Amino acid sequence: MKNIDANGHVRGESLFIDDILTKQHSLHAVVFCSDIAHANNLSLDISKAQELTGVEKVIVAKDIPGENQIGGILLDEHLLAEDEIHFQGMPLAIVVAESQFIAKQARKLIKVNYNELPIITTAKQAHIKKHYINPARSFQAGKVNEAFTKCKYVFSDETFSNGQEHLYLETQGAYAEKMENGCIKLMSSTQGPTVVQRIAARVLGVPMHKIEVDVTRLGGGFGGKEDQATPWACMVALATHMLNKPVKLVLDRHDDLKMTGKRHPYESTFKIGLDEGFKIKAFEVEFLQNSGAAADLSPAIAERTLFHATNSYFIPNVKTIVHSCKTNLPPNTAFRGFGGPQGKYVIESAIAKAATELNVPAWKIQQANLLQENDKFYYGQKAEKVEANNTWIQLDKAININQVEQEIQAFNVSNQQHKKGMAVMPICFGISFTNTPMNHARALVHIYQDGSVGISTGAVEMGQSVNTKMLQVAQQIFSINADLLKLETTNTTRVANTSPTAASATADLNGKALMKACNALVKRLKYVAAEELSVGIDTIKLINNWVYINNEKTALNWKELIFKAFWKRICLTENAHYATPIINFDKGKEKGHPFAYHVYGTALIQTTVDCLRGTYQIDRVDIVHDFGKSMNLGVDLGQVEGALAQGVGWMTMEEIAYNDDGRLLSNTLSTYKIPDVFSVAKEIRVIPLETEGNDMAILKSKAVGEPPLMYGIGVYFALANAIKAFNPDYKIKFHSPMTPEKVLMGLYEETT
Ligand code: MTE
Ligand code: HPA
Ligand code: MOS
Repeated sequence: MKNIDANGHVRGESLFIDDILTKQHSLHAVVFCSDIAHANNLSLDISKAQELTGVEKVIVAKDIPGENQIGGILLDEHLLAEDEIHFQGMPLAIVVAESQFIAKQARKLIKVNYNELPIITTAKQAHIKKHYINPARSFQAGKVNEAFTKCKYVFSDETFSNGQEHLYLETQGAYAEKMENGCIKLMSSTQGPTVVQRIAARVLGVPMHKIEVDVTRLGGGFGGKEDQATPWACMVALATHMLNKPVKLVLDRHDDLKMTGKRHPYESTFKIGLDEGFKIKAFEVEFLQNSGAAADLSPAIAERTLFHATNSYFIPNVKTIVHSCKTNLPPNTAFRGFGGPQGKYVIESAIAKAATELNVPAWKIQQANLLQENDKFYYGQKAEKVEANNTWIQLDKAININQVEQEIQAFNVSNQQHKKGMAVMPICFGISFTNTPMNHARALVHIYQDGSVGISTGAVEMGQSVNTKMLQVAQQIFSINADLLKLETTNTTRVANTSPTAASATADLNGKALMKACNALVKRLKYVAAEELSVGIDTIKLINNWVYINNEKTALNWKELIFKAFWKRICLTENAHYATPIINFDKGKEKGHPFAYHVYGTALIQTTVDCLRGTYQIDRVDIVHDFGKSMNLGVDLGQVEGALAQGVGWMTMEEIAYNDDGRLLSNTLSTYKIPDVFSVAKEIRVIPLETEGNDMAILKSKAVGEPPLMYGIGVYFALANAIKAFNPDYKIKFHSPMTPEKVLMGLYEETT
């Protein structure tokens, strides 16, 4: 099935928040935020702003009728600052006016007073001062210290991976209208409609049933709207609640860049131990996560870093610890991979370090340590249906790794200005929310009396085409034409208590719930058909809009069947619930079976560096990816290519820069570079792994949203290898992104 949004997107007809036709008397809000990163004794003078013609109200913390608290995991974040400021970009007031233009004018008239406090911007500074969000988490397996003493080779080093701006095309925004009896309808660009509903109810001091959240689609989320779509929705809810008029708030790009959190930068130290056969026997890491000024999702992200700290490798003795370090930056948040990429970057750095010191290709160490069937992940889960080796072997068949390496060596011998480098990047990513209780979903299906169908689930469409996948599930079970099926908006009144669209698990969770609902309806319809045709229910089949008795087509079609069922007073609506079976995790022991399954893959990345300029290109990326049995290869290939580009951006050019005052310097699209059509790989070949798939995945089609981002990590090491080919003195720094500036310095650095 073609992506059902394709036509609407191309014709510019798809609706996003800023496309909603506002009602008469709608107001517009802008956020007044802090220009300094840390202070107390805050006082605001809003009188001049309040006086400007066209301004309805300037809302501050003390106007909030409920709790001034938007924290999810921890209750540590104010919607609007009270006495203290914790980061630049922290919302201090909401200006509501007749137009956005007037609101912006008024915003300039607000005066602030405060007492400045010292600023911390890096995880390491916070760690030294023991400035944490919450207590550290640590996972272990085996006996690490003892194992290190027996290792032939032991290496250690430090790594840094930078943050990353989500840069969803649609910025954060929401629109609120007051309904009768104090109820509020919120249209929000959020991955988590229930999160928005719950927190808005808390801020207004009303029960959740007074708030209805509706989501048509997002112009991208990438994790940036899992938690951080909430404040803006709460703000319009608050303004509507106070002013009795509809209110719209859509951040402009500059405000969005400044006010929202990003991927967490990590500073880490590792120690890796290998035996003489290059088997990794021991691995130890300390991760310092730069969480920013409040918890947001940091504790959950830190946890996933630990889960993925060993990537696709079996290591018998492992100890990892992660500190969520509290700094004066905007609270960092979910970003495709959810801490997994940061974990994988460190183990890949450790392997690259060992490879450099031992003078062997890193891929030989990687390959020697790949996870095997029935190995145990260091958090206790048995590895089943492992595809680590299979993806590697199929990649090697498609493009002989050894031969590529020899060709690159030959190229490097005969070329001076250009050098090539390659790297292999295996991935292994666990599917399920690491927080077990979040793994559930519901679907509500109405068959209307004319035979058309309306489908609601908890899934949010954000470009990943989950709506198309939902339609495919219903189409397959009902066996009717797709034009009879419609995906409704995601709405908390139709489907309640949803987990956010995240963790790549949305199609699995909502798809399985939808499947149950459709199957229940089919069962009822078969009963009607059997009665109508006077045959046994087991002989009835629904095939391509028709009722069959065994393999014989009858005169009864879908539409007639539905109409008959309606007249027989059969319920044509079904609501179903799905909760992932088997999974569990014991946070006391830090052991369990947290994931429904794992997604695997292996990529080979080839790059060329211009050794005069420090610029580079990615020549090609070959990937064997474990889709299971993909239910929509077009969509899934799009996910792999998009995620790869995003991973490459993170590793190469996307350089978040804050100065020591906590000011975001990379605050425009001219100072923050993301990959474009010129910087993606010149050639990308994605080969689906031949496999039977996994029953825990919807229709055996494995989750695909996040895992392929991590193929991009290989680019860092491919570039480092190219630099090394030019400059034998080059010492790889494990400090990403590998910008052209860093490449140039690497090309010409000398051993001191
Ligand atoms: N693809 C597009 N086009 N836009 C997005 O915002 N988000 C990613 C991924 N792919 C995203 C995307 C992230 S962070 C996740 S968790 C998954 O999609 C979520 O959707 P899924 O669970 O349906 O895969
Ligand atoms: N992944 C993504 N989002 C989440 C998770 C997770 O594991 N847990 C809570 N939110
Ligand atoms: Mo994705 S980071 O789980 O929204």
